[in-house]
Amino acid sequence: MKLCMIGTGYVGLVSGVCFADLGNDVICVDKDLKKIDSLKKGNIPIYEPGLTELVIKNFKNKRLKFSNNLKKSIKDSDIIFVCVGTPTKKGGSSADLSQIYQVAKEISLSINKFKIIVTKSTVPVTTGDEIEKILLKRNNKNKFAVISNPEFLREGEAIRDFTYPDRIVVGANDKKSNRIMNTLYTPLISKGAQYINTSRKAAELIKYASNAFLATKITFINEIANLCEKTGIDVEDISIGMGLDKRIGGRFLRAGPAYGGSCFPKDTKAITSTADKFKTDLSVIKSVIKSNKNRSNLLLGRVFKILKNKIRNKRITFLGVTFKANTDDMRDSSSLSMIPALVKKGAKIKYYDPTGFKKEFSKTKNVSYIDNIKDSVKGSDLVIIHTEWNDFKSINFRNLVKGKKFIIYDMRNIYSPSKIINQGFKYYCIGK
Ligand code: UGA
Repeated sequence: MKLCMIGTGYVGLVSGVCFADLGNDVICVDKDLKKIDSLKKGNIPIYEPGLTELVIKNFKNKRLKFSNNLKKSIKDSDIIFVCVGTPTKKGGSSADLSQIYQVAKEISLSINKFKIIVTKSTVPVTTGDEIEKILLKRNNKNKFAVISNPEFLREGEAIRDFTYPDRIVVGANDKKSNRIMNTLYTPLISKGAQYINTSRKAAELIKYASNAFLATKITFINEIANLCEKTGIDVEDISIGMGLDKRIGGRFLRAGPAYGGSCFPKDTKAITSTADKFKTDLSVIKSVIKSNKNRSNLLLGRVFKILKNKIRNKRITFLGVTFKANTDDMRDSSSLSMIPALVKKGAKIKYYDPTGFKKEFSKTKNVSYIDNIKDSVKGSDLVIIHTEWNDFKSINFRNLVKGKKFIIYDMRNIYSPSKIINQGFKYYCIGK
């Protein structure tokens, strides 16, 4: 099939490349000419394991094209995926849909034959209705169908999540576009993915409800971890004991720092804001947002306690600063609030991250990037494991640094406490 992905951000690029790899002809469009030029050269703007190889392979075999000519790309395609950003509105909590509506206007000028317009971007309930209204201003209703096909890709696991999805949700109000979408996804359905067809509005809400539920699950276990710390219980026993109940499920029950990233913080806010608009109080999700906001302060409080409230001139190392492993994404990472708060109290921070230097800290005084684990922890008073990169999981601290022993605060519970203590280090973790 001939596909056009509008927006070469995370969603558009990963989905576009994966669709091309399934044998479709895909044009990825972006108005950012520099980005398009660098993509054509095989330079990928995001860190995602396996993505570069897949882009180069499909670009070479000509199934994947990059363009900044939106009109032509739309005209040449049968299915148009809208993959532009829906960030939180400045100063508010609802989703900013200006890019979506701008793209809808541009599509409406280029419909030359029947097109399926698919929103892959995360959009609030009824956005599809608004897109349809924009398209109807210039086009007959039998010239297009607007459907919702939310993505459930995790950063760092995106290619795997695309290829082996738990489910494919297609919100199509008409049979014809549902049939076409089903055909498009047949290679994945035949490998076991569940395909469900819902109303367009239901698909829009499935995406928000899923992210809000996962954020709730994480926040729930984080709060249970707080109780475990007070009562001398291991939170991992709780996660296993709860997770084995199939009604609960064991995934996303790992306690840690506040959840972050480009999705959960933004989408939890947006769904409560949409619900408020419909005069419905999503009080559970609102308290999840509040609890998560408070989590970084709570963990900082623990750091102060570990260092006996003497933070001035303490040398603190962060291993990993991104919001989770296998990504270079810093959006809403808890390190963004924790590091400046520690600096404010007089700490000297070093950090190492497998994805390198972070511009987010370039202007913060007393924060320096060290390009290897050994030098980053040398001379430290406290080492904080902030992100669960595999690179950190097998470190033997005793062999790594001779002499001075530091304290380790493992915010991801990646170590066995007894092993670290046997190496002679003081060890703190989450929910134990
Ligand atoms: C999330 C969803 O998992 C995807 O299904 C969805 O498609 C995506 O948002 C999106 O809306 O685009 P992502 O933000 O990439 O994906 O990252 P996750 O792996 O979900 O992690 C989010 C946060 O939760 C991270 O800070 C992570 O460290 C934290 N987390 C996750 C935990 O603290 N504990 C867990 O058990 C799992």
